[in-house]
Amino acid sequence: MIKMILDCDTGHDDAIALMVAAKHPEIDLLGVTVVAGNQTLDKTLPNTLSVCQHLGIDVPVYGGMSLPLVRDQVVPADVHGKTGLDGPVFEPLVRKPERKHAVNFLIETIMKSDGDITIVPVGPLTNIAMAIRLYPKIVTKIQRIVMMGGAVGMGNWSPAAEFNIFADPEAAHIVFNSGVPIVMMGLDLTNTALADINIIERMEGIGNKAGKLFGDIMRFTLNSQSVVGLGAGPVHDVTAVTYLVAPEIYTTIDSYVEIDISHGPSYGRTVCDINNRWKKEPNATIGMAIDLPKFWDIVEDTLRRYE
Ligand code: RIB
Ligand code: CA
Repeated sequence: MIKMILDCDTGHDDAIALMVAAKHPEIDLLGVTVVAGNQTLDKTLPNTLSVCQHLGIDVPVYGGMSLPLVRDQVVPADVHGKTGLDGPVFEPLVRKPERKHAVNFLIETIMKSDGDITIVPVGPLTNIAMAIRLYPKIVTKIQRIVMMGGAVGMGNWSPAAEFNIFADPEAAHIVFNSGVPIVMMGLDLTNTALADINIIERMEGIGNKAGKLFGDIMRFTLNSQSVVGLGAGPVHDVTAVTYLVAPEIYTTIDSYVEIDISHGPSYGRTVCDINNRWKKEPNATIGMAIDLPKFWDIVEDTLRRYE
């Protein structure tokens, strides 16, 4: 079993990533830590709890950082809606988060482990960076970080920067300079994982609550997140989870990555030296392509495991 902690800013694609991480037979989901990103924490935390409650996901959920480390907060309400998870309708929320702060959960869990835990951040890296700054020794025991964020090519929140990095560039700077092995699923790959109407109807056809929730979630993104001209929304975050169980379906390159924390037009860009111009040791493995039919098979097979 692969031990992992999901760090998310639920969010439409975060919700799908949670559904897959919680039910895949090869994954031991130890906990879910939540961060502000797609919406403010007072929305991303209940969104995460609602998905868990709706599907009976019995994994502890921890509230984390509500603001970026340094920069002003940005919230993409036009993408994920005013709730951060517009579309699905959930039962009144009774599930509660754990009392412990997400950053303390990360530190305590990692430090008492055998160094065999993967952290899967699929939102801004604020929680992870705070854990590294609060307890620097943690970097010696995080097995690896497999994240959704960044891009070799163009951004999606500014011309140069992808949202998760743009939302907290200083946090990303800390993480990418921590020495922890990083696998980065950037937009070059994640924008190809498009939940078009055919995928939506395929998952709804499973005929269980998880398949219906997939449809209710991703139908909203058909309009709000459509990649221009393609009429579909990418399930960015899910590609970080499926990498844990099927790395062989990915095409990757190793590269030195630097986060632009200067305050110019490229603030928040992942500068990926894929041609090794700077002759620096790679600090990340970057996902560049994915076998989409096999990816969607993993998603469908996992959603089928729900009641
Ligand atoms: O740029 C895509 C990322 O931003 C995804 O993690 C999505 O959930 C949003 O957080
Ligand atoms: Ca996310």
